[in-house]
Amino acid sequence: MAGMALNDKIPNNVDLSTDKRLQRALEKWQPNYINWWKEMGPVGHQADSVYLRTALSVESGGWANFSHVKMPDYRWGIFLEPKTADKKIGFGDNMGKPVWDEVPGEFRNALRRLIVTQGDTEPASVEQQRALGDTAPSLYDMRNLFQVNVEEGRHLWAMVYLLHRYFGRDGREEAEDLLMRRSGDEDKPRILGAFNEPTDHWLSFFLFAMFTDRDGKYQLAALAESAFDPLARTCSFMLTEEAHHLFVGETGVGRIIERTCELMKKDPNDDARAQGGVDLPTLQKYINQWYSVCLDLFGGESSSNAADSFASGLKGRYKEKKYDDHQCMEGFKEIDFVEGGKIITKEIAMRSAMNEYLREDYITDCQRAVDRWNKIISKAGISFEIRLPSSRFNRNIGNFSDYHFDPSGKMLSDVEWEAQKASFVSSEEDEIYVLSIMKPCTEPGKIANWIAPPRRGINGQPFEYEYVKKA
Ligand SMILES: [Fe+2]
Ligand SMILES: [Fe+2]
Repeated sequence: MAGMALNDKIPNNVDLSTDKRLQRALEKWQPNYINWWKEMGPVGHQADSVYLRTALSVESGGWANFSHVKMPDYRWGIFLEPKTADKKIGFGDNMGKPVWDEVPGEFRNALRRLIVTQGDTEPASVEQQRALGDTAPSLYDMRNLFQVNVEEGRHLWAMVYLLHRYFGRDGREEAEDLLMRRSGDEDKPRILGAFNEPTDHWLSFFLFAMFTDRDGKYQLAALAESAFDPLARTCSFMLTEEAHHLFVGETGVGRIIERTCELMKKDPNDDARAQGGVDLPTLQKYINQWYSVCLDLFGGESSSNAADSFASGLKGRYKEKKYDDHQCMEGFKEIDFVEGGKIITKEIAMRSAMNEYLREDYITDCQRAVDRWNKIISKAGISFEIRLPSSRFNRNIGNFSDYHFDPSGKMLSDVEWEAQKASFVSSEEDEIYVLSIMKPCTEPGKIANWIAPPRRGINGQPFEYEYVKKA
């Protein structure tokens, strides 16, 4: 594999110093990135010392190095998984041919679009979460937030490296634009809808890390199959960092549930809200909302774009190896449509159903986490079951987007929807309530009232550890 250059201005394992032009271009982009980070990254905590892990190599065990650093001094680097000799394309029309080390002219635009779309989500999430540091429920949580933030910054670096290295002038312009768009901005919004939604409080942050980062996992995994090898190797390494983000999300929600159950038992009416907690029906509404928005990120159930990406080898399925048929020329997949006010099932060509395959794997993964949450509730002796809503519910993209459904998937008229909506998704009042309990708690070892402490700390440190030292 290429040597590790950790002391370079830009730490990397891609032999950056042997390509002076590229190195200069990226070193020019670097100060703009730092300016973006200082302007749009965590507000009010840029000078704090944060117990962060920094990627120093891609080898297992060697890539996570922990120390207290100020976020703007974080060593954002470019790391790709090492190259595998004689690697072959694993699916689509070009299956069995050698993977590409350069971008084929015919797929240049499509690949650039995939990379820009993925790259855009990374700074977007940092922007969405930038105010959360001030209401962190503990120093442990504050540190996790900042860890996620700096790693999303590194993921932006990963995509910008590909743009600079493989897409010439267009790529450099796209890399500039990635620092110009702003989450939620009317004139220059981020590309995808979910990344323009505000993440105003920690309940949303945990649900974002649980559901939206998990979408990221599936998109990255599908791109890790790509015939364009530098993209595949970049995404493989990003996935190792992504696992921590999912952990933060799932255990964050789990700890809320644990605390809610404790608070319910303290209250004569089993009312967690009366005790300052997040009651389970409210949590369910937020889950309905975040999960349904994230299902949209996979795109339409039937998609010629997805078919093209698969055919050309740009984007595969999740763990492509688990399938027997990697060509998908002949098969069909049953997909639900709405026709004449009824749900009907139609067979569509497998290649056109690639979004749906990815979404189904995502749903299975989400359900596993929900099962673990439900165990916390049943262990506490409380009868309540968290449910993922039907994939028809609250959709803005795809076959169900023109209709209303309740969380069980039953079709509703406009009037029924309006009347029942407040019981499906969070209301203004819920939002005001949740914001009202987001009291910061920054004393080492202490935690806010609405969430339970974690089972263990980070990197073998106790929960009481001073994960963030105020400047
Ligand atoms: Fe990311
Ligand atoms: Fe992430």
